[in-house]
Amino acid sequence: MAVVILAAGKGTRLKSKYPKVLHEAGGKTLLAHVIKTALKIIPAKDVYAIIGYEAERVREAVSGSGIHFILQKEQLGTGHAIMAAREALARYDTVVVLSGDAPLITAETITNLRDFHTAQKAAMTVLTAVLPDPWGYGRVLRKRGSKTEIASIVEQKSATPIQQKIREINSGFYAFAVKPLFSHIDELTTRNAHHEFYLTDMAAILSKAKQRVVALEAANPAEILGVNTRAELAEIDRHLRMDKCQQLMADGVTIYLPETCVIDAEVEVGADTVIEPCVRLLGSTRVGSDVRIASYSVIHSCDIGDGALIQTGCVLEHSQIGVRASMGPYSHLRPGCEICEGAHVGNFVEMKKTRLGKGSKANHLTYLGDAEVGENVNVGAGTITCNYDGARKYKTVIEDGVFVGSDSILVAPIRIGKGAYVAAASCLTEDVPPGALAIGRARQTTKEDWVKQRKEARAAKDGE
Ligand code: UD1
Ligand code: CA
Repeated sequence: MAVVILAAGKGTRLKSKYPKVLHEAGGKTLLAHVIKTALKIIPAKDVYAIIGYEAERVREAVSGSGIHFILQKEQLGTGHAIMAAREALARYDTVVVLSGDAPLITAETITNLRDFHTAQKAAMTVLTAVLPDPWGYGRVLRKRGSKTEIASIVEQKSATPIQQKIREINSGFYAFAVKPLFSHIDELTTRNAHHEFYLTDMAAILSKAKQRVVALEAANPAEILGVNTRAELAEIDRHLRMDKCQQLMADGVTIYLPETCVIDAEVEVGADTVIEPCVRLLGSTRVGSDVRIASYSVIHSCDIGDGALIQTGCVLEHSQIGVRASMGPYSHLRPGCEICEGAHVGNFVEMKKTRLGKGSKANHLTYLGDAEVGENVNVGAGTITCNYDGARKYKTVIEDGVFVGSDSILVAPIRIGKGAYVAAASCLTEDVPPGALAIGRARQTTKEDWVKQRKEARAAKDGE
């Protein structure tokens, strides 16, 4: 058996310069969803995607999957797309056709379609669904006097008013016996509303040729939903997001107002973690158990240890946050940070490629870039590493137990030795040995009675 995924269309109704199948829902392209599902039941070597519009872009986006690609140079319709696959499919008995724009289909349904097709010894099996509002879909015309056989499929634009009332629609998923498919496919014509070769016309062609054409009604009609418009894209995205939240909740995660949370498919979350409204967990993020993630935090591909606290409004990217560490509110981790066990990162603190050791704190208004901070270090409010001279980046090392006074500037490369103190408002350009106090600022001068003296001087001047 082979699986063919139709993915060559432009997606005119999306009004986009990007190909339809590369639009994203649930954090992944539509096509990636369909491929992932296909690969659950069949090896990549037997999966073929038909590409055409922006073919190279599509191929590149999903090339990691190892499937084959077939180029449909001109996009003359779904039937024409299958014609392009004639040679590649010659060595198979059965081909299952999936739509690259319908990402909710499950492996179970595809398997059911294949098994039903085989059991029915059919030339063509159409997966159908009964929808409350069938508008826009091809309608399935059942054969009179038969429970399973169908006579034809009519597209929306060609359907008579009576046919338009039929609520059983063509999902766009099919199984074909390869031989009859290709011995009759040249009978397709473009004599229709879109002047395209409709794959759906194979139903009538095969049926007339006394081949068995049957329908299998999908158990869950929601699975066949496809994307033709931006509104449908949003609908499917909502579907996928909700599914993910339901699955996490079933596994013991508390999610408040799950309809406001955006959690990518690959994200893992441990039990008893609490996710507040309007949180986004993206990419390969892994969250431990007993973590609390407050509203408006956006976390991309991070590892978060058990018992950590992510307060409101944190933006965390490609970083590790240790057990019982605390972030935010409003902290920003750029890629490559490691916040160790029990460390605290507070308000308006930005870090990049920085390791903050066990129990260390950077609580307010600080920038640490390319820094290695030891254990139990206190980084005072407003501390800044100057890690960049306009051309290169340099490292700042702050050893265990250091106390950095507020508003300090550490000009890298620099090392502050174990247990040393940096006086507040210092600008340091030289290393500080362990246990030392470094003061890098102008000494304070205080002029007593200065205000009174100035007043008197002015009064004297005015009197002149
Ligand atoms: C199609 C069916 C319709 C069905 C619906 C289900 C036809 C003629 N109609 O309509 O009966 O109810 O799906 O969603 O098949 N594609 C190509 N090459 C082409 C044209 C399209 O690869 O030349 C691909 C598209 O990228 C898309 C898929 O085929 O992934 C379906 O095409 P689309 O134009 O969306 O068909 P519908 O109008 O939705
Ligand atoms: Ca479609």
